[in-house]
Amino acid sequence: MSKTIAVIPGDGIGPEIMTATLRVLDALDCGLSYDFVDAGMVALEKHGDLLPKATLDKIAEHKVALKGPLTTPIGGGFTSVNVTLRRHFDLYANVRPAVSFPGTKSRYENIDIITVRENTEGAYRSEGQTLSEDGEIAESVARNTRAGSSRIVRYAFELAVRKGRKKVTAVHKANILKTSSGLFLNVAREIAKEYPQIEFNEMIVDNTCMQLVMNPYQFDVIVTTNLFGDILSDLCAGLVGGLGLAPGDNIGERAAIFEAVHGSAPDIAGKGIANPCALLLAAADMLDHLDMVAKGDRLRQAIRDTMTNDRDSVTPDIGGKGSTSSFADAIVKRLAA
Ligand SMILES: NC(=O)c1ccc[n+]([C@@H]2O[C@H](COP(=O)([O-])OP(=O)(O)OC[C@H]3O[C@@H](n4cnc5c(N)ncnc54)[C@H](O)[C@@H]3O)[C@@H](O)[C@H]2O)c1
Repeated sequence: MSKTIAVIPGDGIGPEIMTATLRVLDALDCGLSYDFVDAGMVALEKHGDLLPKATLDKIAEHKVALKGPLTTPIGGGFTSVNVTLRRHFDLYANVRPAVSFPGTKSRYENIDIITVRENTEGAYRSEGQTLSEDGEIAESVARNTRAGSSRIVRYAFELAVRKGRKKVTAVHKANILKTSSGLFLNVAREIAKEYPQIEFNEMIVDNTCMQLVMNPYQFDVIVTTNLFGDILSDLCAGLVGGLGLAPGDNIGERAAIFEAVHGSAPDIAGKGIANPCALLLAAADMLDHLDMVAKGDRLRQAIRDTMTNDRDSVTPDIGGKGSTSSFADAIVKRLAA
């Protein structure tokens, strides 16, 4: 199969981890070609625009993008490029797997939870946020729709079926937020009936936080609204040792953008010690999306084997003595074995 994807190297450590990731993808022999485009500070410096139209056009053309982290300039009225991309392409599903990896400091082992977060509705609409002129009263509107709730819940169940998962938990606060969260929960209950092979349960968000910390093994796939998903997916990342190994997939009907959850890490940019794993795991999810599931699984296994057996090659953030490139070299070697 031959497929061209848009590649956004990004800011800070972005180009370093992207180079490593593409080297590993090439070693997997996926038949991918890369169309490099700019976004973030690099784009602002080169083209005077954080998100040039040419970049949006290329993502629309190829429908799949692999994206490095982007620095959001502080002040100056800049909107986050990530939020703009989500809106522009209606990337309604934010899929965040939290999986334990060997040699990572974490409270639990063998965690494997996928959070499916609604990415376009809820309390995240900037047009629903107001502050009175005297600065005394702030309001924000949480707006969920039947259509938006249906498509995210359906996405979560379809993902569970595709990945052989057993259970979907709908997380809500419908006891208090009776309309916005109530609509989401009612839709989740209705759609769950269409998937009798998948166990369905529902849980209030505050209890979910406690349950995740006390007994995370009861969770498989979590589906929830925008704000709860934002918080719960970071909580899940914390269960497996932080954001360093967390991929984030942003999926819509017209496009899908795969990225690491972490940022551009300006403190270590240019030092050659950035961990490429989160972006590599996002690339593995991208291969699944492109119907190359066996290659995605092979990549995940090679990362796992490298982290178990080649400790000297891995980067310092996960206890190794290696660099971004020695980490990628070791993974490439495992893929060739
Ligand atoms: N998806 C994105 O593009 C995205 C996400 C988050 C933050 N950001 C942006 O990134 C910039 C920096 O944000 P921040 O400092 O709050 O968060 P960050 O994730 O960039 O860094 C937090 C800490 O984690 C470390 N770290 C992050 N990624 C690492 C990696 N791959 N390997 C080793 N260590 C790693 C950093 O060195 C730093 O100490 C900001 O401009 C922010 O807006 C972008």
